[in-house]
Amino acid sequence: MTFTVKTAGESHGGGVYAQVEGLPLGLTLDTAYIDRLLRDRQGGHGRGGRMKVEQDAVTVLAGVRNGATIGGPLLLAVTNRDARIDQTGEMTRPRPGHVDLAGALKFGLTDARPITERGSARETAARVAAGGVAKLLLREFGVEVSGHVLAIGGVRAVEAARGAREILAARAASPVYCCDAEASARMVAEIDLARDEGDTLGGVVEVVCENAPPGLGSHAQWNARLDARLAAAVMSIPAFKGVEIGLGFGAAARRGSRAHDAIGVGGDRRARPSGFTRGSNHAGGIEGGITNGEPVIARGAMKPIATLQRPLDSVDLRSRAPAAAAVERSDVCAVPAAAVVAEAMVAIVIAGAFLEKFAGDSLAQARGSFERFMSDLGAR
Ligand SMILES: Cc1cc2nc3c(=O)[nH]c(=O)nc-3n(C[C@H](O)[C@H](O)[C@H](O)COP(=O)(O)O)c2cc1C
Repeated sequence: MTFTVKTAGESHGGGVYAQVEGLPLGLTLDTAYIDRLLRDRQGGHGRGGRMKVEQDAVTVLAGVRNGATIGGPLLLAVTNRDARIDQTGEMTRPRPGHVDLAGALKFGLTDARPITERGSARETAARVAAGGVAKLLLREFGVEVSGHVLAIGGVRAVEAARGAREILAARAASPVYCCDAEASARMVAEIDLARDEGDTLGGVVEVVCENAPPGLGSHAQWNARLDARLAAAVMSIPAFKGVEIGLGFGAAARRGSRAHDAIGVGGDRRARPSGFTRGSNHAGGIEGGITNGEPVIARGAMKPIATLQRPLDSVDLRSRAPAAAAVERSDVCAVPAAAVVAEAMVAIVIAGAFLEKFAGDSLAQARGSFERFMSDLGAR
């Protein structure tokens, strides 16, 4: 059965929910681990009042027995404390950059509230819960997926691929989930300045997947290519407008001799079970739509938050008279939170590709398939 994740739920409804299908039987669900990820999504400097109202925790509604999966659909819930969907006011002055106008036009509405309820990024809490399950599955095989912040507004961290441990430490130590302490401090100042000026900020996040085995994804069909699947998943995060794998756009300006990763043999077989080494990882761990054994590196660019405390010009949908855009309680910058969401989306895609290659109805069967493949790699 194909691994799939679907979500339901609204910003001010009873909660947000994820249905996860295609998981093998026997995966222990560490809900405390998922709750930590949910807390990371709620945190980060620049978040607004909503995140002080919510204290997210996952409830597993179906699909487990004695704390482990039973080979059926898993249903996860993250309850909303701010559940007042029937009392939310009308949204008649669309915010430029948000779903309001496009949604109102699509559905023939002059009140965009039904659209903003589902279009809100509150839904990403459900993705993080499902991503936590994907991460727990991958961890069973030593695969670690971690997201961090590379840039906020014009402030950029010194760029270097980071290991999972360094990223986890940054999540604990940096208010903006950035591995570069000096850049972190400047990012915080940039966010405070934007807030004082009634403005908002975007930025760049990076997700690193360590120990992904070679052979995930496929060259054989356009929608099976792992880079394409990662790009779609990261681009699906609200406010994400660009995705790169490895060098990404940077590769276009280089000559081939400086863009590709020379191949060698040797090195530590535990770190590189295939026995092949690469001089660099400009490809971001994927060639021909297939993982090559190097860390998978995906980046996403998030635009600035659309809800401005000093709003842009808009038009009232009822009267069609010019009006300032609606002002709502909102984040100034959600790039740190988005790094956690991007991590979840990458984990969901990698877990799906992993279960395609190492299929098994139970975790033990998937492990058998994985271990056979890895020992074949090592034997060559
Ligand atoms: C974690 C996260 C938090 C967000 N918080 C807000 C917010 O508080 N206010 C807002 O206007 N947009 C917020 N956004 C962005 C909007 O959800 C997004 O811009 C909107 O849904 C329109 O989609 P689009 O930007 O992809 O076109 C957030 C996005 C993410 C990923």
